[in-house]
Amino acid sequence: MNFRILYFDTIESTNSEAIKQAKQGVDEGLCVSARQQTAGRGRHGRKWVSEMDTGLYFSIVLRPKVEMRFLPLITLMAGVAVHDTLVGFGLKPDIKWVNDIHVSDKKISGILAETTEAPDGLAVIVGIGINLRSTNFPQEIAGKATSMEEVMGNTFNGGEVLQTLTRYIDYFYGILCSENGGAKIIDEWKQRSTYFSGKAVRAVLENETITGITVGLEANGALRIRTADGGLRIIQAGDIEQLRQI
Ligand code: BTN
Repeated sequence: MNFRILYFDTIESTNSEAIKQAKQGVDEGLCVSARQQTAGRGRHGRKWVSEMDTGLYFSIVLRPKVEMRFLPLITLMAGVAVHDTLVGFGLKPDIKWVNDIHVSDKKISGILAETTEAPDGLAVIVGIGINLRSTNFPQEIAGKATSMEEVMGNTFNGGEVLQTLTRYIDYFYGILCSENGGAKIIDEWKQRSTYFSGKAVRAVLENETITGITVGLEANGALRIRTADGGLRIIQAGDIEQLRQI
């Protein structure tokens, strides 16, 4: 893939800029990176705290030639790429379904994939936030979030992290777009996530809450949960919480 990176000091949201670029018809591989976001956003309309130089704020425009129903696998692919990036810097991350990267049960990175109509079809914007430093976490997330600096005890250069990240995105996106790419990405995800199977979880959906044990992923990346009554529930979207087993 041809990467072209637009660097900003301050921007509202790298995802919004990437969406704007996609609508104008940019090629796949256009990336947007910023030192600070004034309106960084997360999933479910949440805010993504994006103070100057405390995180990596990055988005990439993709034009995947995969069937619509497999689009959720792009998020999984990005999770695998972030996971391996962090491993490359000495961390031991876990991927929490569907797109949170945790270290020691605290969130260190999040991924927000959005779609938009481009002049010649659909574009997928993958936005990635990685916490480099913990200094500016607001109180409500301070106990649940961590950063590369906090985990490793030394500072990290955002540029180097970005370089490694784009390398892994290139590699795993290539796999996703290859023959049987979806199954291969699920297999890569499985090797990196303790959530794949045997995890006691609670899935908080719009209208209900499901508890049970994870039993793998569907072909499109949906999470399978075995409930206490032996039933199987397929979770396409929603927040997952780990249940502490006593
Ligand atoms: C989440 O875990 O809720 C997803 C967070 C995604 C944050 C990133 S930071 C770069 C990109 N631009 C945004 O506005 N959001 C994503």
